[in-house]
Amino acid sequence: MIALHQTCHLADETATLALGTAIAPALRPGLIVFLQGELGAGKTTFTRGILRGLGYLGKVKSPTYNLIELYKISRLYLYHFDFYRFNNPNEWEEAGFRDYFNADSICLVEWPEKADGLLPRADLKFIFKVTEGGRDVEIQADTEAGKLCVKRWQISSRNNTLR
Ligand SMILES: Nc1ncnc2c1ncn2[C@@H]1O[C@H](COP(=O)(O)OP(=O)(O)OP(=O)(O)O)[C@@H](O)[C@H]1O
Ligand SMILES: [Mg+2]
Repeated sequence: MIALHQTCHLADETATLALGTAIAPALRPGLIVFLQGELGAGKTTFTRGILRGLGYLGKVKSPTYNLIELYKISRLYLYHFDFYRFNNPNEWEEAGFRDYFNADSICLVEWPEKADGLLPRADLKFIFKVTEGGRDVEIQADTEAGKLCVKRWQISSRNNTLR
């Protein structure tokens, strides 16, 4: 039975990048992914790994100031948000971000708590925790689409270890 709720230890920045890169091929348009954890926990680093895994070679900036960074990789749209600077969840509605959460796009959201109650439900959550020797990340699949994504990732990582 495949566990759909698991924790991984990430010993250093390279491990955080590698997890993002490994999960990238399992992502599909329409997925909503929440990235949670304190300041500096590794959410942007993980996103950088995902974008590398999708074949994006450019610079991956933190959306801290712009709130959103947009990527088009071949025919895939990926939106990377950071809502840390919202003082009030209504700012999310006012910013007009709702349209970005659609069936054709992958949305990665840092600080989803700051738009609490307004954001669509997450398919996947990655909850990062700072530990003495690096980071721990808890992976939680909350919808069928999220569970399928974790299954695709687990099958591909099993095949890679067998190789
Ligand atoms: N597994 C890890 N072990 C140790 N350091 C790490 C690990 N993963 C990432 N880092 C480092 O943590 C720092 C902060 O990472 P990052 O910017 O990704 O955090 P963040 O969660 O996006 O923070 P913020 O909430 O401020 O946007 C970076 O210097 C990065 O290299
Ligand atoms: Mg960040």
